[in-house]
Amino acid sequence: MSASATVTAAKDLREIPGDGGWPLIGDSLDYIFRLDRAIHERYEKYGEVSWGKAFGTRAIALLGPDANQFVLQNRGDLFASSAWEHFIANFFYRGLMLLDFDEHRMHRRLMQGAFQREALAGYLQLMNPRIASTIAGWQSGARFRVYDHLKALTLDLGSEAFLGHLPGPEAERLTQAFLDTVRAPTDLIRYPLPGTRWRRGVIGRRVLEEYFRRELPAKRASQDADLFAQLCRAHTEDGARFSDEDIVNHMIFVLMAAHDTSTITLTNMIYRLAKSPQWQERLREESRALDKPVLEHDDLPKLESMTWVMKEALRICAPVPGLPRRAVRDCEYKGFCIPAGHMVQISAWFTHTSPLYWTNPQRFDPERFSDSRAEDKGHPFQWIPFGGGAHKCIGLHFGEMEVKAILHQLLLRFRWSVAEDYEMRQDFTSLPIPRDRLPVRLERLQ
Ligand code: HEM
Repeated sequence: MSASATVTAAKDLREIPGDGGWPLIGDSLDYIFRLDRAIHERYEKYGEVSWGKAFGTRAIALLGPDANQFVLQNRGDLFASSAWEHFIANFFYRGLMLLDFDEHRMHRRLMQGAFQREALAGYLQLMNPRIASTIAGWQSGARFRVYDHLKALTLDLGSEAFLGHLPGPEAERLTQAFLDTVRAPTDLIRYPLPGTRWRRGVIGRRVLEEYFRRELPAKRASQDADLFAQLCRAHTEDGARFSDEDIVNHMIFVLMAAHDTSTITLTNMIYRLAKSPQWQERLREESRALDKPVLEHDDLPKLESMTWVMKEALRICAPVPGLPRRAVRDCEYKGFCIPAGHMVQISAWFTHTSPLYWTNPQRFDPERFSDSRAEDKGHPFQWIPFGGGAHKCIGLHFGEMEVKAILHQLLLRFRWSVAEDYEMRQDFTSLPIPRDRLPVRLERLQ
C-alpha cells in the first residue's frame, strides 16, 4: 500500500478517473435502487480510486481493504468524520460520530464506561422481559412481516435500555418524535416547509431535546441502570463530565445509531435462516443446549454458530454500506492526490461482497468465520460492518447482545420459512431495508 499525508511532486500523481453521472442527480438513483451492483460496476470501470457525484456532492470512492485501512486508521488525522453532516444534517448535531480528533477522543473516553461489561449486563436485564412479552404475543401466520415487528420491538427495547421504563403515552410521543427525526435527512426538500418530512424532523428533534433536558436533573440524581443514567454519571479519572447539552446530543445520536442497525442485522439473519433451514435448526439446538428461556450476558460467547451467522449476515448486508469522510488537507493514496476539502467514501458493501477477497461471496456460508477458515482475517480491514479506527462502533457489543437475546428467544418459540425461490430485495434510500418488509411463514413451536 502506498499512501501518505504529504503530497509528493504533483507531476508524479495520476489524475483520478470518474464521471458525474446524470445532470443534477449524478448517480443517486443507482445508489438508492441498486447499490449492490452499482458499486461493483464502478470498480470494474475505474478501479480502486474514482470520483463521482451523488446526493448533492462530489466524492472520491476509495475501494477495497487497503483503502478502508488508510481512511479508518487515519494516521495523521487526515480525514474528518463530520463529513456525515452532509447526509444527516443537524438532526444529529454533535453526536459522537460527528465529532473529530481531540474533542472526539475526549468524548469517547467519557462514553466508554456506558458500554463496558457491567453496564451491558444491566441493559440486558432491562430488555429481557420486554423481549419475552413481545415475542410471546406474536401470532403464527403466512405473511409475518419480520422487519416491521423487529423495528417495533427494538424501539421498545431502546426505551427500556436507554431511557429507563416509560409510561405508554410518553413512550409513544417520544417514539414518534424519534422516527420523525430519523426520517427527516432523506427528504429531498431540505427546508422546514409545512407538510414536509424535514419539518416533522425539526419538530421531532425539539421534542426529544425538551424531554431529555426536562429529565436530566432526576437522572443525574438517580442510580438507574439505563444508558441515560450512565451518561449522567460518566466521568474520567481527572473529574471531567458531560455537560447537560452533551448528554442531550449524545442520547439523540445513540438512539439513532443503535436502532436501525440492529434491526437490519437481525432481519438479515432471520432471512438467511429462513433460506437455510439446516442452519436455523443448528442455531435452535445451540440455544436449546443452554437450557434457559432468556439469555444472560455470560451466555453470549457460548453461541458460536449464532456468532458466525451474525458475522455472515453483517458481511452480506452491511447495515451501514458506506462511510464518508472529508479530507482536511491534501494527501496521497496509491499515487492519486486527494485534495483538502474533498469528500471521500469507503465501501463496506464493496469490500464484503467482492470475489477479490472472499470465496463465493454471494453464498451464505457462516463457517467462513470459523477459526479453521478465518476468511475475514485475510486483511485487517476486510470485514468492517462496525467501521474501524477511532470511530469504530462503540455499541458493537451492545448490538451483538441485543441481536442474540432476541434471536435466542425467537428460536425457542418459533420456526420460520420462505418459499424456495423467494429473494429479499433491498431499498437503500437510507440504510438497506427489505422492500417488502420480509414476509415469512411463522409457526409457533409446541
Ligand atoms: C449491529 C448493529 C450495528 C452496526 C452494524 C453499527 C455500525 C456502525 C458503524 C459502521 C459505525 C462507524 C461509522 C463511521 O466510522 O463513520 C458506528 C459508529 C457508532 N455506533 Fe454503531 N452499529 C451498530 C450498533 C450500534 C449500537 C447498538 C449502538 C449504541 C448502543 C451504536 C452506537 C454507535 C456510536 C455512538 C457510534 C459512533 C462512534 C464514534 O464515532 O466514536 N451502534 N456504528
